[in-house]
Amino acid sequence: MGLIEEILVRPKLRQKLWAWWYPFFTRRVRAQGIDFLNYAFHEDDAPPLVLAAADELNRPNIQLYEHARGDVDLRGRRVLEVSCGHGGGASYLARTYQPAGYVGLDLNPEAIRHCQARHQASGLRFQVGDAQRLPFADASFDVVINVEASHCYPDFPGFVDEVARVLAPGGRFCHADLRYPNGLAEWMAALTKHPRLRLDALRLINPEVIRGMELNTPRYEAMVQQALPRCVHGLALDFAGVKGSRLYRDAVSGEMSYRSFRLTKLA
Ligand SMILES: C[S@@+](CC[C@H](N)C(=O)[O-])C[C@H]1O[C@@H](n2cnc3c(N)ncnc32)[C@H](O)[C@@H]1O
Repeated sequence: MGLIEEILVRPKLRQKLWAWWYPFFTRRVRAQGIDFLNYAFHEDDAPPLVLAAADELNRPNIQLYEHARGDVDLRGRRVLEVSCGHGGGASYLARTYQPAGYVGLDLNPEAIRHCQARHQASGLRFQVGDAQRLPFADASFDVVINVEASHCYPDFPGFVDEVARVLAPGGRFCHADLRYPNGLAEWMAALTKHPRLRLDALRLINPEVIRGMELNTPRYEAMVQQALPRCVHGLALDFAGVKGSRLYRDAVSGEMSYRSFRLTKLA
């Protein structure tokens, strides 16, 4: 078992490691203006998404957010993004779809400071919080978005219960993430058998995420080399999912599975 897989299957180790790693990483890349922390998504034959010039640099990462959003309309809706990271997805979606409000929540206080300093849009705000204990009233959101983060949580079914609690009836849950085989059964059961959520769409997106990883490889290699000490380059390139890394190879072989889901909160 590789180090990444080992971490992914041990909930307490996982929680501690991510709670240390992400603030460290945010401090190290602060000067580089990194707004996305995902492996990205690209479909070669899809019609190109129309983006503002300033968003072009992040196209593959934005495409993952657009894929996760799918057919869910954000206009005029109350949106919560759990684990917004450096806020690039929150900023793009809030600017593009004008929701009534968009809250980006993350456990990493350094990331939330980065978001507050960098991303301004009408109705957009950021706060520190834990996905396992969402600091919001029942039925207070119409949409919950969660991209490439739930593999960090110690209790995924508990997180899905929290999503079901904060969603209003008819509300939508847009979720995309990765799992190794030992986490697959729990992940699928929590999303397909939840008493208060109906599964509307599920797609295996390894090929599109692999293309995203390939497109981001030059940028992520440069980021790792500039921001991190040489002794952690190997591990960081693995986490960054650059072409040829362990994570990339696991995505290609299918050992790691990347999936997207959309669900509806039942009345
Ligand atoms: C791979 S990053 C993805 C960030 C963002 N969604 C994106 O695509 O750029 C995972 C994020 O999950 C956050 N995270 C990890 N555990 C969390 C928890 N228990 N509650 C909230 N956020 C958490 C991390 O701080 C990190 O920002």
